[in-house]
Amino acid sequence: MKNIVVMVSGGGTNLQALIDAQTRGEIKGGQITCVISSRADAYALERAKKAGINTVVLARKEYPDSKTYSEAVLEELNRQKADLVVLAGFMTILDECVTKAYPYKIINVHPALIPSFCGEGYYGLKVHEAALAYGVKVSGATVHFVNEKADAGAIILQGTVEVKSDDTPEILQRRIMENVEWKLLPKAVSLFCEDRITIRDGKAYVDV
Ligand code: GAR
Repeated sequence: MKNIVVMVSGGGTNLQALIDAQTRGEIKGGQITCVISSRADAYALERAKKAGINTVVLARKEYPDSKTYSEAVLEELNRQKADLVVLAGFMTILDECVTKAYPYKIINVHPALIPSFCGEGYYGLKVHEAALAYGVKVSGATVHFVNEKADAGAIILQGTVEVKSDDTPEILQRRIMENVEWKLLPKAVSLFCEDRITIRDGKAYVDV
C-alpha cells in the first residue's frame, strides 16, 4: 500500500472527492495517511478529521520565505514516509528542495487546460476570471506531475467543459470541479498507486 499525503489550503472539495473515492474502494494500492494544510483555518482539515485521517498544520505565514517553508514541508513528508504527495487546492508554490526530493511523486490538480491560464499568479478563482476575460469556449482541468516550474510538469489527465456566455467565475469553477476535478484527481491517484503511469521523454503515459 502506498502512503498518500494530501496537501490543502482551503475548502477541500478535492480532498473530499479523494476521501469518497477511497471509501468506495476506488483508490487501488494506496491510502490517504495524512493531510497537511498551509492554513490553520482550512475547512479541508475538518473533512480529514471527520474521515479519521491524521492532520498536520504547517502555516505558510509562520515562515519567512518559500525556501524555509519548503524545508519544513520536506521534513514532514519524509516523516510521513510519503510515497505520493497530492496537491489538492494547495495554494503555495513549493521550492525545488521538495520537487527534487519527490520527482514524479507529486501530483497537482489545476483548474484550466494547461498550458493555458497557468503558472505563477493563476490559482483558484483567478484562473476562471482569466479564462472568461479571454473568451475561451471550453475550459477544464489538468492533473499533472509537479516539477520545479509552476504548473509545467508532465500532464497525466485532462478533461473539458463548455464555457457558457453567462458564466461567472464561480459558476465556471463549480462546473469544472464537478465534471472534471472531482473525477480525474481520484482517477490519477489510483493510476499512480497501481503503477500504471509511465514516464517517457518527460511525458506521462497511462498504461492500458
Ligand atoms: C480547485 O479548483 C483547484 O483546482 C484549485 O483551487 C481549487 C481548490 O478547491 N487549485 C489551484 O488553483 C492550484 N493552482 P478545493 O479546496 O475545494 O479542493
